[in-house]
Amino acid sequence: MTQTLTLIQPDDWHIHLRDGDALATTVPHAANSFNRVICMPNLVPPVKTTEQAVAYRERILTALANSVISDDRKSAFDPRMVLYLTDHTTAEEIRLAKASGVVQAVKLYPAGATTNSADGVTDILGRACVFEAMQQIGLPLLVHGEVTHADVDIFDREKRFLDEILSVIIANFPELKIVMEHITTADAADFCLAQKDNVAATITPQHLLFNRNHMLVGGVKPHYYCLPILKRADHQKRLLEVATSGNPKFFLGTDSAPHATHTKESACGCAGCYSAVHALPLYATAFESVGALDKMENFASRFGANFYGLPINQTTITLAKQDQVIADAYDYLDGKTLTPLLAGQTLAWTQIS
Ligand code: NCD
Ligand code: ZN
Repeated sequence: MTQTLTLIQPDDWHIHLRDGDALATTVPHAANSFNRVICMPNLVPPVKTTEQAVAYRERILTALANSVISDDRKSAFDPRMVLYLTDHTTAEEIRLAKASGVVQAVKLYPAGATTNSADGVTDILGRACVFEAMQQIGLPLLVHGEVTHADVDIFDREKRFLDEILSVIIANFPELKIVMEHITTADAADFCLAQKDNVAATITPQHLLFNRNHMLVGGVKPHYYCLPILKRADHQKRLLEVATSGNPKFFLGTDSAPHATHTKESACGCAGCYSAVHALPLYATAFESVGALDKMENFASRFGANFYGLPINQTTITLAKQDQVIADAYDYLDGKTLTPLLAGQTLAWTQIS
C-alpha cells in the first residue's frame, strides 16, 4: 500500500507572486496547494499603500479567475497582502491597512538586502511611529533579517541583523508581533526561541533540504541561489530540528520567488528559488529525512494561522509516497521559461489531492 499523508490545507506565509503576466503562472501554482498566501510586496514599484495592496489583490484574483484550476481551489484561495515599509510610511497608513481587512502585515526590507529592495528602510528606528502603531493595533512586522553593509560577509549578514537591528526593535517594541522571515541559521532559530510568543519565524523548503555545498560543490548551481543565502550544514541541521520540534514559533513560508530562467542562469544571476508547485512534497521530503512527518501538519497548517489569529482551514490535502519528476521548466511571461527548484529531478512525494 502506498503511504499517504493527509494534512489540513496549508497556508504559505511568505510567497512572491510578482505581477502582470507572471500571475498567470504563479497564481494557479500557489492556489493548487495553499488557501491563504502572504503576498510579498517587492514589486516594481513596491506595494507601499493600502490602496496599492487592494489593487494588487484584485489583479491576483483576476489571474485566479482566468486560470484552469478547479472551482473549489479558486474559491478557497485567499491572498493576504503586505505593505512594503519605506522611510516614508506613516502611522495613518498602518491604520488604513488594518481597517482594509486584506492587509495582513508590513514588510521590512533593509535597503538593498534582496530583489527589488532599493526602496527599503535606511533608518530603521526612524520608523518608530509606524512600529508604535503596528504594536498597538496588532499588525505584524515581517522582517528580511540581513544587514546590507558592503563590508559584512554575506554569510554573516543574518547574525549581524539579529545583534544590531532586531534586538533593538524588540527592546523598543516588546509587544510588536514579528515574523523573522526565511531564517537560515542556528543563530536565528535560537534567537527566535529566546523571545516571547509574539516573535516567530518562517522556514523555506530549500533551507531545510540544502546547505551551501549543494549550491557550490561541483559547480555553481544558480537555482539554489536565494537570499538569505544557504549556509553550512550545521545550520541546516538546526533549522530541521526546530521546524520539526513542534514549537509553534516555526511555520511554513516557502519564499517561492520566480525569476525567468535566463536571469538566474547568468553571469549575475538573480536570487530566488521557485518552489510553489511542489512545495509540500519538498517539505515532506525534509520532514521525512528526520523521521518527523507527524510534525508537518502543525508546521504547515496550524502554527502560522494561530500566529496571525486566523481560523484553521476546513479542507484537507493528501500527499502520497509516490515518485514525481519535477518539470524542467514552466512557461513564464512572454515566451520565457521558469525553472523550478530541483528541475528534472525525482522527488519521493507527490500531492495527489
Ligand atoms: C526574493 C525575490 O526574488 O523576490 N528572493 C530571494 O532570494 N528570496 C526576495 C526575498 O525574499 O529576499
Ligand atoms: Zn521572499
